[in-house]
Amino acid sequence: MRETRNRLSPEELRSYRWFGRDDVRSFGHRSRAKQMGYGPADYTGKPVIAIVNTWSDLNPCHSHFRDRAEEVKRGVWQAGGFPVELPALSISETYMKPSPMMYRNFLAMEVEELLRSQPIDGAVLMGGCDKTTPGLLMGAISMDLPAIYLPAGPMLRGNWNGQVLGSGSDVWKYWAERCAGNITESTWSEMEEGIARSPGHCMTMGTASTMTALAETLGLTLAGASSIPAVDANHSRMATNCGRRIVEMVWEDLRPSEVLSVESFENAITADMALGGSTNAIIHLVALAGRARIKLDLRSFDEISQRTPMLANIRPSGEYLMEDFYYAGGLRALLAQIRDLLRLDSLTVSGLTLGESIGEAQVHHPEVIRPVDRPVGRAGGTAILFGNLAPRGAVIKPTAAEERLLQHTGPAVVFEDYNDMAARIDDEDLPVDENSVLVLKSAGPLGGPGMPEWGMLPIPRKLLRRGVRDMVRISDARMSGTAYGACVLHVAPESHIGGPLALVRDGDLIELDVPERRLNLRVSAEEMERRRTQWQPPPPRYDRGFGALYIEHVTQADEGCDFDFLHAGGETSEPEIH
Ligand code: FES
Repeated sequence: MRETRNRLSPEELRSYRWFGRDDVRSFGHRSRAKQMGYGPADYTGKPVIAIVNTWSDLNPCHSHFRDRAEEVKRGVWQAGGFPVELPALSISETYMKPSPMMYRNFLAMEVEELLRSQPIDGAVLMGGCDKTTPGLLMGAISMDLPAIYLPAGPMLRGNWNGQVLGSGSDVWKYWAERCAGNITESTWSEMEEGIARSPGHCMTMGTASTMTALAETLGLTLAGASSIPAVDANHSRMATNCGRRIVEMVWEDLRPSEVLSVESFENAITADMALGGSTNAIIHLVALAGRARIKLDLRSFDEISQRTPMLANIRPSGEYLMEDFYYAGGLRALLAQIRDLLRLDSLTVSGLTLGESIGEAQVHHPEVIRPVDRPVGRAGGTAILFGNLAPRGAVIKPTAAEERLLQHTGPAVVFEDYNDMAARIDDEDLPVDENSVLVLKSAGPLGGPGMPEWGMLPIPRKLLRRGVRDMVRISDARMSGTAYGACVLHVAPESHIGGPLALVRDGDLIELDVPERRLNLRVSAEEMERRRTQWQPPPPRYDRGFGALYIEHVTQADEGCDFDFLHAGGETSEPEIH
């Protein structure tokens, strides 16, 4: 439990500068509140709580957020606060192109400035679809006002003719079967009816489920919040509890900077490994830590992975879905299994320590959340590779790959970019077999642009027909957390800026050795140097707009793909009010 401190007085509220003073600007602020129908009893001396809502008609994962925002408001009013709803960019993983990842930093900037420029004392941040969790949290960490994260919750299990379907994972699986000619068009369209059947984010252990669970482990949600399905009545009650709690947090002046620490990030990495979480979490955690002025080295992910058993039996690495995970006890029950690996004294937004939040949580279904002595995998779900092909690191999720490919050497089949791959991958004359290593260039933070989730390159159709379902694939792209396969991702530095991946040619031998954490191109240093002198940088992709800002400032995957100017420099001052 956090030590009790002096509570703020109403005059110490940040919003007092806008509403409380006897000057001409405060007159304007109060009279405009009255224009909206609010009187002094609504706002005088009360914490102003921003409900940052990433609802949009084009974000199916957040389609319940209008209701949830009202439920948060109910809690804020009950606790004596003044709720104001602020819409923020709804990064829809489904619809935003060229890659939603391009917009994560944009959301972070928007959140930071929404909170800074207006009379806000604390915030409830509503997100869940992949990039919204890190985007909202990065902005809130930088602004450092009291904040609670309200996770959208996973959607219900998919259903097709009585069979369970999982977001993403089963799309890739059955699409491969369709390409192999094993399922019909009508079966495929029946699946379309049943794979997404309620509000909520993807219900596999993709990026959304991973990042909301990590937000909880970091201490930024109420206990147990991240596992509740979006349409469960407990989710509504959790929303109202967020509203009540954030008002208290403002009086207690409990800010993200007090909650976050090196230890809380190590807890989050440990949870990520026990969950078999998305590879995307690595990039987002590095970026989040950067905002908290903590440097996470990629090697720490590997070290923690080695000592953490993977316990969550959730697709794509396991069998079940997030709805099952909730009924099995949810994240608190999983964390209870790995207590010994966690720093239980880390603080959470509830004012309790992580250990107190976990409490006596029990596992109700030991097939879904396995015990430590019967894990899904002896080590965590992520390995970090280094070598002459990835001097600054690359990532693989061995638990989602065929075992035989984890030590593999094969000849490269190189695609210069996504369009090149799309044009040739199914060419019957493509010189490729199951031992080949598929290489995709120009898919990184700058090359994609936005590091799209192209890392699970499709298996060529002629190999699908022969029963091949996994191959070694290498790129500077990311991969959907719902995807699977022997896919080496996040190769840094990326090919677009002349990283070694740019120099790979057809037929070069590539060695992947996951147990030894190696990724090497078997080409001599002299030959690599010769190729480097011939390499021409591609022209910039944007010369105006947000794209131009993005390409000027985005960092590489090992640095979290944040903008350089957002994690540099000192404090940003409070706005003057004149
Ligand atoms: Fe929103 Fe998957 S599309 S979480």
